[in-house]
Amino acid sequence: MAEVISLKDVWVKYEKLTVLENVNLTINEGDFLGIIGPNGGGKSTLLKVILGLIKPQKGEVKVLGKSPARSRHLIGYVPQYGPTNIDFPISVWEVVLMGRMGTRGLFKHYTDEDREATYKALEVVDMLEFRDRQIGELSGGQRQRVFIARALVSNPKVLLLDEPATGIDTRMQNEFYELLEKLKSEVTIIMISHDLSAVSVLVDKIACLNGKLHYHGSKELVPEDIEKSYGCPVDLIAHGVPHRVLHIHKH
Ligand SMILES: Nc1ncnc2c1ncn2[C@@H]1O[C@H](COP(=O)(O)OP(=O)(O)OP(=O)(O)O)[C@@H](O)[C@H]1O
Ligand SMILES: [Mg+2]
Repeated sequence: MAEVISLKDVWVKYEKLTVLENVNLTINEGDFLGIIGPNGGGKSTLLKVILGLIKPQKGEVKVLGKSPARSRHLIGYVPQYGPTNIDFPISVWEVVLMGRMGTRGLFKHYTDEDREATYKALEVVDMLEFRDRQIGELSGGQRQRVFIARALVSNPKVLLLDEPATGIDTRMQNEFYELLEKLKSEVTIIMISHDLSAVSVLVDKIACLNGKLHYHGSKELVPEDIEKSYGCPVDLIAHGVPHRVLHIHKH
C-alpha cells in the first residue's frame, strides 16, 4: 500500500523545551489515525511538522514522497483554534473559495469548478445560508464549520484535523463524524481528539503522544502506553471508552 506520510527520528524543540522526541510514524493510503495525548504533549506540533510549518531540528519528514512544503497543496488542515478575531471584510464564501488556491495557483482566476466545490463544501457543513456573511460575524461553532469546509474544498489527499469538533454542537458533530466515515475511503486522515469515544468508533489506528509517540499500528490502546503518556492510571482515561478498544497488549 502506498506510503502517504513518513516521519523518521523527528525531533522538535522550542528553545530548550523538547516537544517531539524520536517520533517515527508511517501512514499508508486510506489510513485513519487518531492521536490522543495530554495537553502540551506535542499533538498540534506534530501536525504542523507534517504541514511543513515547523521544521524539525532533526529527522526526515515526507508527505506523498516529497517534502511537506511541496505537498502542502494536497493537504486539508483544520487548525485547533481557527483565528477568532477576524476583522477584515471577507465572506464565508471567500474563505472557503480561497481553499482552492492551492489547486489553482495564486493569481489565477477561479473557475466554475472552484465555485461548485465551494458550494458543495458549504452544503456539507450546512453553512450555505451563511455564504455572504462576514467570517467575523459568525459564532465560534459556525466559524469552525467554515474551516472544515475550507479544508475539504480542495479534495485533499490528506486531511489533518486538530480537534475539529471542538465547539460544534452535538447534531453537527454527528454529521461531521458521518462525513469522515464517508471520506475515509478516499482520503488519508489524521485526527487529534480528546473525545475518545468518537475516536474509537471512527479510526483504524490510535497513537498516544506525549513527547514520544506510542504507536503500535493498531486500534488497540495499550494500557502501559496510556499510562506512560498521560502519567496517570488507565482507568481515568478509559472512562467512557468502549470496552473493545482497550485490550491487553500481547507482544
Ligand atoms: N510556538 C511555540 N513556542 C514555544 N513553545 C511552544 C510553541 N508552540 C507550542 N509550544 C509548547 O510546546 C508544547 C507542545 O505544544 P502543542 O501545541 O504541540 O501541544 P498539544 O499536544 O497540541 O496540546 P493541547 O492538547 O493542549 O492542544 C507545549 O508545552 C507548548 O507550550
Ligand atoms: Mg493542540
